[in-house]
Amino acid sequence: MYLSRRRLLYGSTGLAVTAVAGCSSDEESAELTGFTGISMPTTTSERWVIEGEALENMLIDAGYDTILEYGEDEIEAQIEQIQGMIDDGVEFLIIAAIDNQSLGEVLATAKDRGVTIISYDRLILQTPDVDYYASFDNYRVGVLQATHILDRLSVEENSGPFNVEVFSGSPDDSNSQYFFQGGMDTFERYMYEGTINIRSGETEQEPTSTLRWDGVRAKDRMTGLLEDHYEDGELHAVLSPYDGISRGVVAALEEAGYIPGTADFPIVTGQDAEAISVKAIRDETGQTQTVFKDTRDLAEVAFDMVKRIVDGGSPEVNDLGTYDNGFKFVPSYLLEPVNVDASNWEEVLVESDYLSEDEIDEAEEWLEI
Ligand code: GAL
Repeated sequence: MYLSRRRLLYGSTGLAVTAVAGCSSDEESAELTGFTGISMPTTTSERWVIEGEALENMLIDAGYDTILEYGEDEIEAQIEQIQGMIDDGVEFLIIAAIDNQSLGEVLATAKDRGVTIISYDRLILQTPDVDYYASFDNYRVGVLQATHILDRLSVEENSGPFNVEVFSGSPDDSNSQYFFQGGMDTFERYMYEGTINIRSGETEQEPTSTLRWDGVRAKDRMTGLLEDHYEDGELHAVLSPYDGISRGVVAALEEAGYIPGTADFPIVTGQDAEAISVKAIRDETGQTQTVFKDTRDLAEVAFDMVKRIVDGGSPEVNDLGTYDNGFKFVPSYLLEPVNVDASNWEEVLVESDYLSEDEIDEAEEWLEI
């Protein structure tokens, strides 16, 4: 039997709370029940909804109590939710942080109670209390996005110059810097040679950032860039780190008179393989690329970390030296992201049952762009 909402938990887990409080050694871990709190950032991005449910189901199937909550991009709400989970006696926390630097205090409380803390997808910074990190090779995401642009512009045969603009993700999400760095390192040689030109001059992370990964903010910035630098309509590509941002960019391009599906429409990258973005890639109606991160696998990795500890072992990790959170290199398990464009969306997404043709056909914009 399981309970998946915290308000239902009082009384049912009293024993577990007493049993696990303060325990962290291997002998004591035999008493763990697997009680896990899942703290997700928002329901406005498809992936977190899919992963929240997937994680919840895996934990439930293993017989573990779970609590799943979404902070809806409110930093304080996420902190309160995590505190509530700790008060309810969770033994594990799986957290995709809204703000990577605001959880130190609440995680210190969790650590005092012997909770194992798994940083999920996004690395939590500036705290010694993160035990494990489950994520993707985030630098590689940026490399894939920039490589799509270079390939589509045929930079080896054609020296341009091509006009490109760059967007980065939320500045308080540690992933943003890895995506951005991967993209800019890939562009570097071509920028130096003059094949790629960023007319705005905005080549640093800060001015290109998009708080909360918000498509509306991205649209506004894109509109400003078009007005200030592209009156001639000569923008060739936009490096965008996430599908929601990409759709904001596309909306601004359309409003400025670029026509999707024509040769003059800029190349636009993305990430997360959201159904509505995949539809645009398939139909050539805007965004041209996304990066698929198989979130089913990521959920499995995080679940497996919990399970191994409950079973008395330690989690499998495959990287000990990349993700420095300011206190330590956090032991990580990293998965590989996959490039998706018009040539392979079906094979990568549909044949693997990540999205069905119907889901893509019926996908509609839900962001208020
Ligand atoms: C990042 C994540 C991306 C995307 C973005 C916006 O942290 O790695 O895949 O989901 O947040 O939600």
